[in-house]
Amino acid sequence: MSTPGRPRVLLMHPILDPGPAILGEAAEVINYPSNRPLDQQNIRQAAEGCVGIVSHLKDPIGPVVLSTPGLQCVSNVAVGFDNIDVATATANQVWVTNTPGVLDDATSDFAFALMMAVARRVVQGDSLVRQGNFRGWEIDMLLGTDVHDATLGIVGIGRIGRGLARRAKGFNMRVLYTDTNPLEPEMEQQLGATHVEPHRLLAESDFISLHVPLTKETHHLISTVQFAQMKPTAILINTSRGPVVDEAALVEALKTHRIGGAGIDVYEREPAVHPGLVALHNVVLAPHIASATTKTRSEMSAMAARNMATAVRGGRPPNVLNPEVRR
Ligand code: DGY
Repeated sequence: MSTPGRPRVLLMHPILDPGPAILGEAAEVINYPSNRPLDQQNIRQAAEGCVGIVSHLKDPIGPVVLSTPGLQCVSNVAVGFDNIDVATATANQVWVTNTPGVLDDATSDFAFALMMAVARRVVQGDSLVRQGNFRGWEIDMLLGTDVHDATLGIVGIGRIGRGLARRAKGFNMRVLYTDTNPLEPEMEQQLGATHVEPHRLLAESDFISLHVPLTKETHHLISTVQFAQMKPTAILINTSRGPVVDEAALVEALKTHRIGGAGIDVYEREPAVHPGLVALHNVVLAPHIASATTKTRSEMSAMAARNMATAVRGGRPPNVLNPEVRR
């Protein structure tokens, strides 16, 4: 039963405390049925009568959803927003918000964790022990690659890329980066990072970590041509978005040892994972958990709820992606 007069907000999936309380103070919260498929028609139907939708990155928010009468705001519980058609939202005068900043450190930590896990064969070691195959110290057992003193190539030097560069300093790594907006010289100096052209980064890096948003320009940014330019020992880390890497080309590069390994948190057709990846041992596979710490996910929940609560109360949400919307 809805409360007359209270604005309604569709919550696509559960969020963490204190998000629900923040939302509940501002609006009547309608939960999306957990067993209903996540397609636009179903979302649109569930959103009828709602002024807002609190979405996750797996929810397709396109023209069908964005034409829901009375819809004022879509608050994505993620920094990435490639699941939302922002241009259509703007044309329909719907605010779109995201959760920048609060997940930077957790994500940089995880990119570093994947680097370490692949280079030092942590997952293979774990399996060996669990399978009862540890029969004593061996001089050549699970030999890995040094992370310290190695060259790290960061593709995209936004907040998360910069966080990774700061962590790399502690390991005495040489840091190269590419970005369409190079850093100010003072920041480069602070981070110890050198701006280079993509081909140089690919050719010289021992580890290549991707930190770009998914756009038309970054789709398949890393494919066969780029793998061909990498060292045969290079390790690719992806905590950005799956389609930034051509997954079939990655499988081929790993299978043929064109590159040394990979640490992957995001997939081209999430949650599906290319079967070729699952069959390989020189790749560590994670289920899109780079920001998954209790503190970070709570902060993301709170921020998304605050964005929505502000919009519902008639204000301009703090993390709005389309400020040109006028309400
Ligand atoms: C994001 O926020 O975009 C991440 O992929 C999930 O935290």
